Amino acid sequence: MDIRLDGISHAYGETEVLRDISLDVASGQIVCLVGPSGCGKSTLLRFLGGLERPSAGRVLQLGTPPEGCLNPLTYVFQDFALLPWRSVRGNISLVLEDHGIRGAKADEIIADVLARTKLTDFAKALPKQLSGGMKQRVAIARALAVKPAVMLMDEPLSALDSQTRELLMDDLIALWERQPFTAVYVTHNLAEAVRLGHKIVVLSRRPGQIREVVEIAKPLSERGYADAELEQVQKHLWNLMRDEARAADEELLNV
Ligand SMILES: Nc1ncnc2c1ncn2[C@@H]1O[C@H](COP(=O)(O)OP(=O)(O)OP(=O)(O)O)[C@@H](O)[C@H]1O
Ligand SMILES: [Mg+2]
Repeated sequence: MDIRLDGISHAYGETEVLRDISLDVASGQIVCLVGPSGCGKSTLLRFLGGLERPSAGRVLQLGTPPEGCLNPLTYVFQDFALLPWRSVRGNISLVLEDHGIRGAKADEIIADVLARTKLTDFAKALPKQLSGGMKQRVAIARALAVKPAVMLMDEPLSALDSQTRELLMDDLIALWERQPFTAVYVTHNLAEAVRLGHKIVVLSRRPGQIREVVEIAKPLSERGYADAELEQVQKHLWNLMRDEARAADEELLNV
């Protein structure tokens, strides 16, 4: 299933937040959204997830969700949102229970997502026993369990230290290589965008408009750390972002 954003605009009262956003998210693609603070990235994800409706424009689901899909548009949050009193397994089984899936069928799905996120040995652990990076892997496993058409990821690595972020980027790439998933991935971190994005959408400051869409053809598995080609793209993104970010920063101070 592909997703198409068609002319999305939005205002909260007097505040215009997004202006005329049109964008395609193709199945199997990771689309990164970057842009200055307050430009409407999280708002756009809420429209994608159907949590809110834009003032104008539409979110279209093109085609049918994958087989066994329980929730086509599934969030992964920055703060993991795990239930502390439930084990890794229990956190995942909960979303399946919400959809009436229990017993052998649930066991099969849980075993699969734990294996894909390399958490099989930690099924019985409680969140407090896990590092931040592992907690986010649990949150990703839980999202995968509902076989989403698109994962909506709002700065999923930004609560983590830089080394953990690097490891988790490697994990996400390995996960995608084993079985491609589709994601809209919001990040402030341009290095993250060029490591993970097939397509990087640069938004202007508020009201967020698309400044440029940068596509990176290089396969994820070949995108190493300190890759000269990616550094060039990152530099280009930063040039686009710098003036917007500075102006946005100064605007926020004037509020
Ligand atoms: N429910 C709401 N009511 C009123 N204004 C809102 C609401 N949600 C967001 N806003 C405003 O809309 C603008 C965009 O917010 P949003 O959270 O989407 O930005 P963002 O790009 O995700 O920012 P950040 O990078 O800081 O996470 C901001 O000015 C914010 O204050
Ligand atoms: Mg946000």
